[in-house]
Amino acid sequence: MIEIIKEKALQEGVPIIKDDGLAFLLETIKKNDFKQILELGTAVGYSAINIARLNKNIHIDTIEKNIDMYNQAITNIKKESLDKQISVFNMPIEDFKTDKIYDLIFVDAAKAQYGKYLEMFIDNLAEDGLMFFDNMVFHGLINDVEHIESRNLRNLVKKINKFREMVRNDKRFDIMLFDNIGDGILILSRRKK
Ligand SMILES: C[S@@+](CC[C@H](N)C(=O)[O-])C[C@H]1O[C@@H](n2cnc3c(N)ncnc32)[C@H](O)[C@@H]1O
Repeated sequence: MIEIIKEKALQEGVPIIKDDGLAFLLETIKKNDFKQILELGTAVGYSAINIARLNKNIHIDTIEKNIDMYNQAITNIKKESLDKQISVFNMPIEDFKTDKIYDLIFVDAAKAQYGKYLEMFIDNLAEDGLMFFDNMVFHGLINDVEHIESRNLRNLVKKINKFREMVRNDKRFDIMLFDNIGDGILILSRRKK
């Protein structure tokens, strides 16, 4: 079933996490025994379903603004009988407010907003929790910005580069960059005082 969800998403051009990025994400969750997960960007629920299948005690809150994606995610999650483990919120991330503390925050939505999402949710991250950002090399484009013809795309890639630079220089955080995994993964943790 999960393979069918994946194939359908790929056929319909729904952007889902790449295989090696997903394997790395799942390994990170398993290794740290993380249980409370927040995901920004559900799409059709592919990554959330994969995470939930790791362990019955994992719970995921995941946010999706697009109603069609949301409906597909709900259907897929129900079919997998994972609706107790995965809560999908149909709203813009910008409107999601919670006091909950999460072990892992998986950021996989509007790339231009990563800096904003970091500030919005950093207080929801457990002391030893991790923030996991996908698309940090954006199909390899971050090293070739000046050759990107589309102005919108060029601006987006510049914003990703700016975000990378910003977290690198922010003394609140320790970061690890894995440019060769998935579409480029950045893992951020709070620096211990
Ligand atoms: C890359 S896809 C998520 C893929 C999913 N995590 C997976 O790997 O299966 C990004 C999703 O984020 C949603 N999105 C983008 N900006 C958003 C926002 N501001 N609020 C809520 N959802 C947003 C898009 O509609 C899209 O479905």
